[in-house]
Amino acid sequence: MAGFPTVRLRRLRMKAPLRRMVRETALGPDDFIYPLFVMPGKGQAEEIPSMPGQFRFTVDRLPAEVEEVARLGIPAVILFGIPEAKDEVASGAYAPDGIVQQAVRAIKRAVPEMVVVADVCLCEYMSHGHCGVVRGGVVDNDATLDLLARTAVSLAEAGADMVAPSDMMDGRVAAIRRALDAQGFPLVPILSYAAKYASAFYGPFRDAACSAPAFGDRRSHQMDPANRREAMREIALDLEEGADAVMVKPALAYLDVLREARRRFDVPLAAYNVSGEYAMVKAAAARGWLDERAIVLEILTAIKRAGADWILTYHAKDACRWLVEGGC
Ligand code: PBG
Repeated sequence: MAGFPTVRLRRLRMKAPLRRMVRETALGPDDFIYPLFVMPGKGQAEEIPSMPGQFRFTVDRLPAEVEEVARLGIPAVILFGIPEAKDEVASGAYAPDGIVQQAVRAIKRAVPEMVVVADVCLCEYMSHGHCGVVRGGVVDNDATLDLLARTAVSLAEAGADMVAPSDMMDGRVAAIRRALDAQGFPLVPILSYAAKYASAFYGPFRDAACSAPAFGDRRSHQMDPANRREAMREIALDLEEGADAVMVKPALAYLDVLREARRRFDVPLAAYNVSGEYAMVKAAAARGWLDERAIVLEILTAIKRAGADWILTYHAKDACRWLVEGGC
């Protein structure tokens, strides 16, 4: 006879080792991709005010940071750049000695085994802060594709192991794949920010990367938070265009999207636990309103349980330390 009192789910919850045996989701360092910001200059690490514990590093300070990331067992970092100068064609994004290109070379020299993912977007390099070429007040999709493809090739030339377009232009995965193949990089994979929403959770990142749009917003290309079915179309199209892995972003308010994507697509699936999600936890923890360690491990476990293979998170280093200490 199924049911109480024959069935008591508490039986398997009575002891910590038993709970470990029935645990369905295990977090580990291999799940994480750690975001890093790189800026011009020498010998500096500047804390980002709205992201306590996260820094903008000059290129010479990156190797030590990445060595620590590697020591913690994290296999990959993703790079974002703050260029020396910005213009209307995002020259800094595809300059051979651009800030991220320099960072990639420095990291690969110091820690060759680290998987270096390079974010591909133009907003950090555009004077107006938009993700593409602006014509008549709107982002011109097709005029932007060529610049994105050039950026991806330039990052591959610098030694990036993976490129991750986050711009949300239509057709960019195909354009990038074509360019990489034509320029001798058929084995550089594309992690597409396929379902990227127009989210207020990116606020602290835009401070960190100085990439807030000077006018308007990103709603003509990033997705409406109200839509889930459309996210499945975005993912399916990016896979058709040749994406090797796809991302849902942000993570926490979009776990249903992540779950649905997991159910439908048998490809590596990433979730970006974004800057605003990080800032909320840090702010509450600083006031003693939340137990940071418990909250972070719960959040990351939930993102993995929902279906993420890879979690891009600013908590990655702390999480690895806490996982080694154990007891949760
Ligand atoms: C675009 C980009 C953004 C983020 C990652 N890549 C910002 C945006 O779309 O405005 C946000 C990441 C975060 O909030 O942590 N280059």
